[in-house]
Amino acid sequence: MKLLFATTNSGKLTEVKKVFSETSFTILSLADFPVVPDIVEDGLTFAENAKIKAKTVYGLFHVPTLADDSGLSVEQLSGGPGVFSARYAGKNATDEANNKLLLEKLTHFSEPHLAKFICSAVFYDGKNFILAEDVMEGKIIHEPRGVNGFGYDPLFVAEGFSVTNGELSLDEKNRISHRAKAFNNLKNILLEKLL
Ligand code: IMP
Repeated sequence: MKLLFATTNSGKLTEVKKVFSETSFTILSLADFPVVPDIVEDGLTFAENAKIKAKTVYGLFHVPTLADDSGLSVEQLSGGPGVFSARYAGKNATDEANNKLLLEKLTHFSEPHLAKFICSAVFYDGKNFILAEDVMEGKIIHEPRGVNGFGYDPLFVAEGFSVTNGELSLDEKNRISHRAKAFNNLKNILLEKLL
């Protein structure tokens, strides 16, 4: 069965393809379809935004759709950047600009900067939504390390680890990541319901 993962983020796509790699689901992405206009993610939660993405993309292509919304929540920043993680330093901000702003904001606080990544993963088939969520707990360090992953990975050290996510291999990150865990939960529900 084909599932369209509503993303153009190659980092996310690689992670999610890996989760579904030993199933009979084939994961397509927006790269396989005509360009989608910008989707306004104006939900107040990750779950709302994931549902907005899934519903919009299903409405365009009528293929059972997976979508996620995810982000970083830092305790000392009252849960920020939260749903604004991708555009923390402004619309179309680069990862580097977002990371720089995060470090600037955290200079006012002492370490450890406790933080977590949150992911809401959603399936939509035109009738029903199925939602699964998970988190990865850890902390933000004061300078970036590593070139793997994307987003805030070079600044994030997961609980129980001494290296950043940017220093983990894809397999290592996939064992602990919020997205891998949320999509694994979703995959298990789908395997039960659809196959
Ligand atoms: P989304 O594409 O709206 O889900 O935005 C996710 C944003 O949150 C990304 O652009 C990153 O800034 C951040 N983020 C989410 N997941 C991760 C991750 O696994 N590593 C690093 N940053 C992440």
